[in-house]
Formats: sequence, C-alpha cells, structure tokens
Amino acid sequence: MVTTNKPVLARTLSLEVARVTEMAAVAAARLRGRGDEKAADRAAVDAMRTALNEMDIDGTVVIGEGERDEAPMLYIGEKVGTGSGPKVDIALDPLEGTTLCAKAMPNSLAVIALAESGTLLHAPDSYMEKIAIGGGFEPGLVDLDLSPEENVGRLAEAKGVPISSVTACVLDRPRHAEIIASLRKAGCAVHLIPDGDVAGIIHTADPEETGIDIYMGVGGAPEGVLAAAALRCTGGQMQGRLVIKNDEQRARMLRMGIADPTHKFSLGELASGDVMFAATGVTNGSMLSGVRFRGDQVITHSVVMRSSTGSVRWITGHHQASKIRPSA
Ligand code: FBP
Repeated sequence: MVTTNKPVLARTLSLEVARVTEMAAVAAARLRGRGDEKAADRAAVDAMRTALNEMDIDGTVVIGEGERDEAPMLYIGEKVGTGSGPKVDIALDPLEGTTLCAKAMPNSLAVIALAESGTLLHAPDSYMEKIAIGGGFEPGLVDLDLSPEENVGRLAEAKGVPISSVTACVLDRPRHAEIIASLRKAGCAVHLIPDGDVAGIIHTADPEETGIDIYMGVGGAPEGVLAAAALRCTGGQMQGRLVIKNDEQRARMLRMGIADPTHKFSLGELASGDVMFAATGVTNGSMLSGVRFRGDQVITHSVVMRSSTGSVRWITGHHQASKIRPSA
C-alpha cells in the first residue's frame, strides 16, 4: 500500500487563511488611533468570523475570544467554516495588540493558526512564562528553569558571540524588572515592547533581519500557543509554563484538560500537529506593514506559514475598497 502522508492543511488553503486575517486587519485598521480598544477588537472579530465562515473547513475554535458565556463571537468551542473540508482546530486573535491599534502604535496584528484537530494546547486565559529562540541550535539550549543570564550566556556561546551581541525581547512590564536588570547586568541588550508578544516571539526566528535573538518573560497563554504555531513553521525552540493566579484560572485550566500547572510545555506540546499560521499587519510594524488606505485601494501585508513544508509566504494584497464587504 502506498502512503502519501499528505498534510491535513493543503497549500491551497494558504490564500484563504490569509484572506481571513486580511479582513480582520482591514476592519481594525479603520479604527486605528481612535482610542477605542473595544470597538477595534469588535470590528476585527466580526470581520474574521465572517471570513472564516466562508472557508471550506470543519473548524472548532480552541483559542478564541473567551468562553461562551463571556464572548458572543469566536468563543472557545464555536464551530466555524462551511463544515466541509478538513477538520481543524483554530487559535485566533483577530486583534493582537488592541492597545497598540487604539493608539496607532506599531506592531498590532490580526493572527490565526489552523491545526490538525486535537493538536493545539487548549490554554486557559491566564498568563504564561515563555522563552523562545530561533532554529539551528541543539535542543534544550534554553530553559525556563535557567536564569536569564544563563540562558543568554548559553545562546551567546552557541552563536559564538559575546553576550553583548545578543538582544532579548521582553514585554515592558513592572513584573519583568528583575529579568531586565539581570539581562542588562549580564551585558545583553534588551528590546522592550509595549505589547504584542506573538510578534516578539516570531522575531526570534530571523535574528539577522529583526535584531531579536531571544524572547523571554510572562505574557498571555493564548498568545503563547499562537506564537508556538508560528515557530513550528519557521523552526525554533520555545517553552511555556502557565502562571495560575487564582481558583477561577485553576478551574479553567482543569476544564481544558491540563492537570499540572507547573508543567513546562515544549514547542511540540504547545502545537504538535500539522499547522498553518497567518498574520496581517494592522498598524505598521517591524514584521509587517500596516493596512494602507489609498483612494479606492486597500493594501494589506500578510505572512502565511506551513509546518509541513516550512514555507513562509509574504503576501501583499491590493483590494478595491468598494468591493470589500461591509463587515471588513
Ligand atoms: P491584547 O491584544 O489582548 O491586548 O494583548 C496584547 C498583549 O501584549 C499580548 O501580546 C501579551 O501576551 C499580553 O497582552 C500581555 O498581557 P498584559 O498586557 O496583561 O501584560
């Protein structure tokens, strides 16, 4: 018998997936800089859901806008797609960096990951400790249980450079004061970001282009799964460990099938199967330019990645504003 080992997520879905993040990004971009995070997020959610429901997939949202009782659309467990086509689990963030968009600051994105059913970690809406580096290093080079100095020291050694040539990306939060101080004491440069750690982590995949060698710190757990899906496509290492703060989060974690809050999830445990990841820039960013409105033209910049082949496609879309449906 001949086995084909065909990926669940066919290449032809790439354009459809890009369209989903494009529509969310265009909708959010219309509300850039208005200071209204909720309105921008709502517009992105609405547009993403409409576009997703036109895709020939039998999709289930596993990382979404929240639990059913708190999110009217794209809630965890919601079925999306036409129902025909591959059975997939979906992690999404229609507007990653809501504050960035509301303030028209760089690096807000519309983001989605599609994966073979049952292969994405069902992460609760809690924080997660994260560490990530790009590909090409021996497995286990960095580890959440090592100190920041040890991690950057090991990375510098593996790269054959002094620590002063290493740059770590960290969310600019008071909770990271110690990590930032340790990194600087060790001689490492610290690139602080105001929000948006999905992009922060993806930046580690191409340090020569982005100037980011390693990501570390605590951010959203759902964003951790999305970033892991991208790194599965580009290659890289990542670990995540939930930060469970109260009984409500513990209960959610248990409901999602995670028994041990101290477990260190590897990249393969965060996103294990065949994965496709797409993002479209909402505001200008270091990875993707934001949506441009030029007369009747709307121009979008997206990236689509597939784990089965490791392909990374950069897609510029030129849309006619009058032909984009009202939801976007
Ligand atoms: P939102 O798009 O939900 O605002 O998330 C932005 C973000 O910066 C994420 O990228 C990050 O994981 C998380 O918030 C960090 O959480 P907090 O702002 O509470 O530190």
